[in-house]
Amino acid sequence: MEDLELLNNTFELYMKKGKEAKEKGKYALAKRNFLLAGETMMKIAKISQGKLKEARLDRARRIVELSERMETSTQEKKKNEGQCEEDDDVKKWQQAEIPNIHFDDVAGLDDVKKAIKIRMINPVLYPDKYKLYNKKTGGGVLLYGPPGTGKTMIAKAIACEVGAKFYAVKGSDIVSKWVGESEKNINSLFAEANKQDRAIIFIDEMDSLLGKRGVDTHNDKRVNEFLQQMDGFAGRNPNLLLLGATNRPWDIDSAATRSGRFSQKIYIPLPDAKARKFMIEKNMKNVPVAKDFDVDKIVDATEMYSGADLDELCDRAKDEPLLKAIETDKIVEVTNKDFDNVLKVFPPSVTLKELKQFEDYNKDVESLLKKKK
Ligand SMILES: Nc1ncnc2c1ncn2[C@@H]1O[C@H](COP(=O)(O)OP(=O)(O)OP(=O)(O)O)[C@@H](O)[C@H]1O
Ligand SMILES: [Mg+2]
Repeated sequence: MEDLELLNNTFELYMKKGKEAKEKGKYALAKRNFLLAGETMMKIAKISQGKLKEARLDRARRIVELSERMETSTQEKKKNEGQCEEDDDVKKWQQAEIPNIHFDDVAGLDDVKKAIKIRMINPVLYPDKYKLYNKKTGGGVLLYGPPGTGKTMIAKAIACEVGAKFYAVKGSDIVSKWVGESEKNINSLFAEANKQDRAIIFIDEMDSLLGKRGVDTHNDKRVNEFLQQMDGFAGRNPNLLLLGATNRPWDIDSAATRSGRFSQKIYIPLPDAKARKFMIEKNMKNVPVAKDFDVDKIVDATEMYSGADLDELCDRAKDEPLLKAIETDKIVEVTNKDFDNVLKVFPPSVTLKELKQFEDYNKDVESLLKKKK
């Protein structure tokens, strides 16, 4: 295996040379350097794992495409100038919007909503009251739990409730770009969000970005730099909220969850019966269902299903009646049998083993909190 650090340095060098050549209009030289940079990133991707591997492969492909766009002719020069920016993240940050998802759209999770109101929503809506009680504000919140349980949805709902612009970034995207460019991008993200009256920076896949230190020097450097920037910006502006989400909380470096950073960890569990009922009913609202359609039966049969699973289940259950409706040109109602047929072939996406890992981790977090009290 080639040394990751050496490959990263080589990559940085080729990118730098490519950019310098491009700026001077030496497109043939730029093309060659970008191609070498792309090949090096491909090598880095090959020794990476999981989402990080995908993100790096994607980046390698984009750099190779960039090299292909480097033309030597001066006629092409103008065209290239507008096209060849590899990273248009700054533009992306500028397009951030306030989402249109409300807290009431999020099923269940009453305790979670309460904790979030106290920690993130009320300080923004009632700053005077918080001052009066000398309540601490700022810092970030880390949402963790199995996939498809509504972490991203809650993050958007918080932004909507406080009227904040929503800046969403993926940990794996930042990491793939970190070598060379991404310090700049992270900086521009914080700076752009900081300019808004209210903003939320939402970092999905936090574990890819803030992994435990001591294994890979590039990871360590990245974690340190990110935390530094976070400390610098977030603490000073109470209207800039930081939210992280992860399916692998145990992989996150403990420095990231230190007091004043992502210090509050909130577990987003699989939906309980009440939440499942809410979601299924919402999914079937205004859909023709049989008179004896019994939601509770479906609720009972979907114990381990996540919110995302339930979306999929409801959608698939509509397939057969819909096909028949097209064939016969009549209204064909959805029945419990349609759901049963899908349930036979569509198990929950979270396994018992995975769930246990979360529950165990959650117990550790809670017992730590009790000790602190
Ligand atoms: N509590 C919930 N209330 C309502 N809908 C939900 C809830 N949880 C999940 N869903 C549905 O599932 C979809 C996926 O949820 P979301 O993307 O928020 O999950 P996530 O926890 O961020 O998953 P991942 O860990 O894979 O990123 C949502 O768009 C929504 O339709
Ligand atoms: Mg998500």
